[in-house]
Amino acid sequence: MKVLTTISEVRSACAAARASGKRVGFVPTMGALHEGHLSLVRTARSESDFIVASIFVNPTQFGPNEDLAKYPRPFERDRELLEIEKVDLLFAPTVEEMYPPGATTFVHVEGMSEKLCGKSRPGHFRGVTTIVSKLFNIVDPDRAYFGQKDAAQAGIIKKMVRDLAYRTQVVVCPIVREPDGLAMSSRNVYLNAEEWKQALALSRALQGVRSAFDNGERGPSILRSAAETVFAGIPQVKLEYVEIVNPDTLDPVCDLSEGALVAVAAKIGGTRLIDNIVLPATK
Ligand code: PAF
Repeated sequence: MKVLTTISEVRSACAAARASGKRVGFVPTMGALHEGHLSLVRTARSESDFIVASIFVNPTQFGPNEDLAKYPRPFERDRELLEIEKVDLLFAPTVEEMYPPGATTFVHVEGMSEKLCGKSRPGHFRGVTTIVSKLFNIVDPDRAYFGQKDAAQAGIIKKMVRDLAYRTQVVVCPIVREPDGLAMSSRNVYLNAEEWKQALALSRALQGVRSAFDNGERGPSILRSAAETVFAGIPQVKLEYVEIVNPDTLDPVCDLSEGALVAVAAKIGGTRLIDNIVLPATK
């Protein structure tokens, strides 16, 4: 696996791969890799010929009081994991390489970026779409792989790809869970044993929604309260939102017949976690 740090080197390596007829698959990450990331790499490997991964803790997607400084950066371990997964190229740029002094251009998907996590994290999705757009310009992948855990991010990136006519196909891969149901996240390392147990409220709340749905409940507010009840019993977990939305627009839905995304965000101590399920169409 080649490890490159400059835009020009990555551009040349990806152009050479494409020129030799290879399909380029791209997995952008912020490192602190877990099985969720590795499942993206494995899917990319099964569908593409030249696999590029990036590790870049993107400062523009963190708010001023968020965890940018303490975000885990186990680079050597991440590098080894990607090597084992037979990634061809790892792009690990510096902040200066990605944001040269004076950079003032942002990509903002209006409307969607202010919804779900965008409400409490202003500027977060603008940071995500700016860096993903820039990485797409550098790697120019045939396919790029994102996790369903960040369902709003995936929907917003799909919209950006459509609106800006990127040729890249966005592939969204299933959530990978711990055996106890907690959705894998790089931020799970912040949880102590007690907080980990409390964090199971997120997946349990979503299971509650799913059982109510399977029992025939179709009212969004009743389904939401099935989740809220779980949080009400665990005051240490601060529920931020439970929303039932259209996954393509992130707008709340009243009619579940075409399926819906049920998304939840909550804080356990200082750690903010998200999770979601998709309710199937019933038409
Ligand atoms: O999902 C992430 O890890 C990040 O938001 C991404 C897509 C790599 C952009 O920094």
